[in-house]
Amino acid sequence: MALKGKNILVGVTGSIAAYKAAILVRCLVKEGASVRVVMTAAAKEFITPLTMATLAKNPIYVEFFNPENGDWHSHVSLGEWADCFVIAPATANTLAKMAYGIADNLLLTTYLSARCPVMVAPAMDLDMYSHPTTGENLAKLASVGVAIVEPEEGELASGLSGKGRMAEPEYITEQISKLLDGAEKKTLNGRRFIVTAGATIEPIDPVRYITNHSTGKMGYAIAEELASRGAEVTLISGRTALPTPKGVERVDVLSAEEMYEAVKARWEGCDGGVMCAAVADYTPAEVSPVKVKKSEGDMAIRLRRTPDIAASLGAVKGDRLLIGFALETDHEEENAQGKLERKNFDLVVLNSLRDKGAGFGGDTNKVTFVTRDGMESFPLEQKSDVARRIAAFADSFFKKF
Ligand code: CTP
Repeated sequence: MALKGKNILVGVTGSIAAYKAAILVRCLVKEGASVRVVMTAAAKEFITPLTMATLAKNPIYVEFFNPENGDWHSHVSLGEWADCFVIAPATANTLAKMAYGIADNLLLTTYLSARCPVMVAPAMDLDMYSHPTTGENLAKLASVGVAIVEPEEGELASGLSGKGRMAEPEYITEQISKLLDGAEKKTLNGRRFIVTAGATIEPIDPVRYITNHSTGKMGYAIAEELASRGAEVTLISGRTALPTPKGVERVDVLSAEEMYEAVKARWEGCDGGVMCAAVADYTPAEVSPVKVKKSEGDMAIRLRRTPDIAASLGAVKGDRLLIGFALETDHEEENAQGKLERKNFDLVVLNSLRDKGAGFGGDTNKVTFVTRDGMESFPLEQKSDVARRIAAFADSFFKKF
């Protein structure tokens, strides 16, 4: 079951069906989920906070702050904590406010700031449910990705009979589980990333250049994995033969300088960066406009330093995520730790050319994660699996409460 260990935020609004929210909370807890409850003031008229808090095993949230001690209830933190926000029962009033971005209570502000999947289970009288305005509001919510658990037909609180009765808690639980199964991978919805990949090319003259063995496979796999988890990804790519991953915006560059400019222009507004490119640390100091002719004897090319792209992002990182790579041949862990500090990375993905199957070209890699909390080594695996580990690291980085 997809609910084990998941954080489910249950929103309760003012409807007779609020009693079913208590059963829903019990079902979710039984499935191993952690549950928090946010109620509107009207909901408290239908079911007591004490009942909900006891079943959820957590205090409930109603107001923006606790009037007794001024303790602030952050709607942003609640939204970030939740893996799923399910509003059950959802009244016509709350659905209308959600559809139009009205934010006059904690439940609604939480909805507007939540990045997790959101589900509503409407409950109302049959005429309210069949009213075209309610239909339009539900269609509007569906169009922005809100999952709707349709009400059932049956006897209603008004004594009338028809469609409007909130779906049964057991059924809603199943639907949440299904939604999470599908959304399992959409953990980076709304996050913006830059990924650099491939080798840079530093021209000597119109014919020759300095480059390295990077093929871009690792960076492309990371861009693809982040995008598949819902992130908006810009891939700043050196020359490669690879196709652009699905759902990724690709910007082609050649030299380290061009890559630096492309990255710098996009870092603001990003939530994270993965620096996977093999960037030349040196470039020819002068580029000849014409082909350099050979002469007797040896020749030397004077090189100058290129900008350190990762370090420049690290210097203005703030609370963003920055991941770098270290490809080493010796003193691997020591070198990786040095890069972690110098470039202000949150994670250095270390691979060593001493490990068979690691590094350039192939479809596999063998990496060690180096963070300020320690190191963790993984077996030789597909680059797509390494990409999944890196994306999972990003997931946990953003999951704070
Ligand atoms: N990097 C970068 N810009 C550069 C050089 C490197 O963004 N001009 C990034 C790489 O993409 C990688 C990390 O920095 O994520 C490590 O690069 P590397 O060149 O191995 O590290 P350096 O600190 O330059 O150390 P050295 O070359 O001495 O190994």
